Amino acid sequence: MARLEGKVAVVTGGGSGIGAAAARAFAKEGGAVAVVDVRAEPAEAVAAEIRAAGGRAIALAANVKDEREIGDAVRKAAAEFGGLHVVFANAGINGMQCPIEEMTLDEWRDTIDTNLTGTFLTVKPAIPLMRAHGGGSVIITASVNGNRIWSLPGYSAYSTAKAGQAVWGRMAAVELSRWNIRVNTICPGGVRTNIKDRTWRRNLEKIRWDIKVPDHYPPLHGRPAAPEEIADLVVFLASDESRYITGTEVVIDAASSLLRG
Ligand SMILES: NC(=O)c1ccc[n+]([C@@H]2O[C@H](COP(=O)([O-])OP(=O)(O)OC[C@H]3O[C@@H](n4cnc5c(N)ncnc54)[C@H](O)[C@@H]3O)[C@@H](O)[C@H]2O)c1
Repeated sequence: MARLEGKVAVVTGGGSGIGAAAARAFAKEGGAVAVVDVRAEPAEAVAAEIRAAGGRAIALAANVKDEREIGDAVRKAAAEFGGLHVVFANAGINGMQCPIEEMTLDEWRDTIDTNLTGTFLTVKPAIPLMRAHGGGSVIITASVNGNRIWSLPGYSAYSTAKAGQAVWGRMAAVELSRWNIRVNTICPGGVRTNIKDRTWRRNLEKIRWDIKVPDHYPPLHGRPAAPEEIADLVVFLASDESRYITGTEVVIDAASSLLRG
């Protein structure tokens, strides 16, 4: 039997990168998937690809920063497929990377609101829906930044958001355990995605440290992860195979953060 047979999943940031790979992997394991993204076109393309391969998927356009939009999307997904069991709160941006003294309030807010507040706004409306079916699994995409890596000046807003997501995940895990809802946070290192399209840099040379990483970096494999390698972990955390795992961060970075803390 497929590992996610009978389960319904919402994937935010499903139009690209890690979210798209996870949506495909969920469907391959028998799950029905709502591919949610602020960009409607790529979300529809991923959902259409899943349907063409025989899977069940719909695309929903929603901005995770907007409580009404993301709430409506989560409820629509559950209504369409008859329930909700898995939430992959994954949408995120690198945002503006620059010296702290030059960062505008709007730049700070964009990064915090998308990554951290967006996680809260995605999971909140899912709670009553998962409770109605006796529980579920929430997976949050944080990062090694903010949780294991501190050597990238300019990432202050991003790292703060990613640390906040991990703390929020632990708090939610304890609170929601009474309803059999598990909450885990993944912390990827470098992954080959399109996140550069949502990364802006200004005057980083003013605050850089002269750090040299080893030639074969990260230590295992010496290359960034493929999104599918992250998706394999997300499927495990979504499935009942991880039924005793909740309230933890899982680092998936080929040991890069052990060399570059
Ligand atoms: N790529 C990496 O190296 C890396 C490393 C660690 C963590 N992450 C995290 O992984 C997650 C996914 O990123 P990715 O690398 O797949 O990037 P990506 O840019 O390829 O995909 C992210 C998707 O999220 C969507 N998105 C952005 N803002 C949104 C919003 N406000 N509402 C709804 N959707 C929104 C984008 O349209 C895009 O389709 C992010 O949370 C990111 O911080 C990425």
